[in-house]
Amino acid sequence: MKSYTLHRHVQLFRFGDPFETESLCYPGENLIPQEEVELPEFDIFKNNGITVLTYQLEKQDRVIGLGESVGGINKRGRVIEAYATDDPIHTPDKRALYGAHNYLFIAGNKNLGIYLDFPGKISYDIGFSHPDRMIITIDGGDFDLYVFRHDDLLEAVRSFRKLQGVGYAPPKWAFGNQQSRWSYDTADKVREVADNMRKKWLPCDAIYLDIDYMENYKDFTVDETKFPDFRQFVEEMKIRGFRLIPIIDAGVKIEPGYHVYDEGVEEKYFCINEKDQPFVAAVWPGWVHFPDFQQPEVRQWFGKQYQVLTDYGIEGFWNDMNEPSVFYTEESLGTFIQKAKECEGKNIDLEDFFVLKDLFEALSANPDAYKKMHQISETKKIQHHQIHNLYGFNMTRAAAEGIEKIDPNKRYLLFSRSSFTGMGRYAGLWTGDNYSWWEHILLMIKMLPALNMGGFLYIGADIGGFGGDASPDLLVRWTQASLLTPLFRNHSAIGTRNQEPYSFDHWTTEAIRKMLELRYALIPYIYSEYMKAALHHDLYFKPLSFEYIDEHSMEVEDQLLVGESVMMAPIYQENARGRYVWVPEEMLLWKTVMNHQDEFQVIKPGHHYMHLELDETALFIRKNKMIVLADPAQNVDLMNFDRLTVLAFVDGEATYGYYDDDGETTNYKLEKNIKMMIRIRQHHNDYQIDVELKSSVTISKIHFMLTNPAGEFAEMDYDVSSGEIHKGSN
Ligand code: NOJ
Repeated sequence: MKSYTLHRHVQLFRFGDPFETESLCYPGENLIPQEEVELPEFDIFKNNGITVLTYQLEKQDRVIGLGESVGGINKRGRVIEAYATDDPIHTPDKRALYGAHNYLFIAGNKNLGIYLDFPGKISYDIGFSHPDRMIITIDGGDFDLYVFRHDDLLEAVRSFRKLQGVGYAPPKWAFGNQQSRWSYDTADKVREVADNMRKKWLPCDAIYLDIDYMENYKDFTVDETKFPDFRQFVEEMKIRGFRLIPIIDAGVKIEPGYHVYDEGVEEKYFCINEKDQPFVAAVWPGWVHFPDFQQPEVRQWFGKQYQVLTDYGIEGFWNDMNEPSVFYTEESLGTFIQKAKECEGKNIDLEDFFVLKDLFEALSANPDAYKKMHQISETKKIQHHQIHNLYGFNMTRAAAEGIEKIDPNKRYLLFSRSSFTGMGRYAGLWTGDNYSWWEHILLMIKMLPALNMGGFLYIGADIGGFGGDASPDLLVRWTQASLLTPLFRNHSAIGTRNQEPYSFDHWTTEAIRKMLELRYALIPYIYSEYMKAALHHDLYFKPLSFEYIDEHSMEVEDQLLVGESVMMAPIYQENARGRYVWVPEEMLLWKTVMNHQDEFQVIKPGHHYMHLELDETALFIRKNKMIVLADPAQNVDLMNFDRLTVLAFVDGEATYGYYDDDGETTNYKLEKNIKMMIRIRQHHNDYQIDVELKSSVTISKIHFMLTNPAGEFAEMDYDVSSGEIHKGSN
């Protein structure tokens, strides 16, 4: 083991000769080897090619992080596996989901963060087998272990994030509402969705195309019978204010004459089997080959393919099935069929029945397939299983780099299902196939900060749930709970009840419309906080314990801090008409109610029961903080960001740095600064407001809505060019 100091608080311990994952992007020349440095926190044990790291957990230690996984914000008591898996049933016992996120932060008397840079399987037994031990089992002996020793947990996260580089910046319209379903499978079906959204005044920016837009599930093709004159159709939808977002799958259909297949075979761009022939597996199109995204030329080639669709005017993509998902292989199907034949016509016994059942279940997501598949890394043939967790990351990197070449100055929407640390530089992710279960609203809340810690910022769950049937109240509450998720998309599976906001009774549609308008009103704040987090390695979603040190805040699992000014505490239980909220400091409760004026109330620190009917949403504004709002519109392009509203809770003095940019080009990379500094000084019910514009921007008017600790409310208009303030409401 070699050790290096990267920073006063960050050390790298290199075990053996690790595989270069490229998850991090700090300059390697900083690595100056040191004398043997101790790693006192861990007991290290190596056996049979496996490495086991054991950490003694103190009673009060909380273990936070590990990204996409079931379980709480505090993962203590669980086993989590980092092995990207297409498992659509996210029950509490599941150990692995689509992403592999090897970072965790131990918060206790002493804080410690770690990142294990290793592309194979790792298991984290966090006080499950032994309550006071965390046992990390790494399926190999060559890996990098980064250790972050900061007193402040947030600083530890920032240090980790800094090593990954600046986060992905989607276009601003991607913060609007997006409507999806598997599938809107014809142009007319998409038109119908668009018509319904506009008829009911449901703001919406994008409609999704799932696998059925393709010709026989072939990537980078469009079925002309279902979508005649696609270019014209994309334009028609854009004029109506909707972007179309097609899906791209990892598997390439085996079909001679299909250009992607032909080129891939010709150039040897596909993953191979033990006999160096292209590896064959089945996904939607039937038999497919998987591009070997480990090879830079393959990434370049695949990335270029996106141009087929960008040339039609497409501005966003979602990459799917890239764990990669395998439905079956020739071998697993053969074994199953053989057993089934043996059983045919027989009165089979229990044992045979279970063998048959197990073989059937093992057809999909069978790790044996990953052992037979191989990839090439710098001329070396490597078993896919060893680097399995990099597949989705590299597919998405291929897409991002390809798209960047197509149009270097334009921001595209891009997110992926499978992921690995570092992918947050290139794209966002969605949390895959959840269910229309109330429990999955809570699961979403718990995953958000864990994902942010790993640099995944553009994130969200399928609102309303993917599998199963959504009830109207579930959709309303889920929409409320997602109010601030950067990716805000209602998506559902084929065969389930329709769950577009207009698919229910009039009352439900209206309740959701109110929420969507609130979402759009919040976009200036969401965008400002998102971009600051992406540019400055910060968290957009934080557990309360990152800011408050009281004993309750340490344990809260169903409330989050969002950006610097807001606390969310959504309702996620069926039939609930309220919930308990822990308020760690004095805050301003902002309640929105359908068909009524918004309500504001100063809430003292403590436990509070908050009564909230189904059409009521609450957000909490922190003390001496503010949020920036705009008037909602039917889509983001129609919003006017020149006239803003600032809602603030001021006790003495509040300041806020508001970030904005053009929302569509990559010019933000040159000018990473905030656009406007707002300072509000309060004395009783009098306020002094200073607005300093930081760059040449066009903000003409700001309406201020201010509350002081006495609960007194004041409104005034600020004319930006003259600096004049007019009291009273406008
Ligand atoms: C699996 C994805 O997770 C889901 O969102 C999608 O609808 C289906 N694949 C079909 O493409």
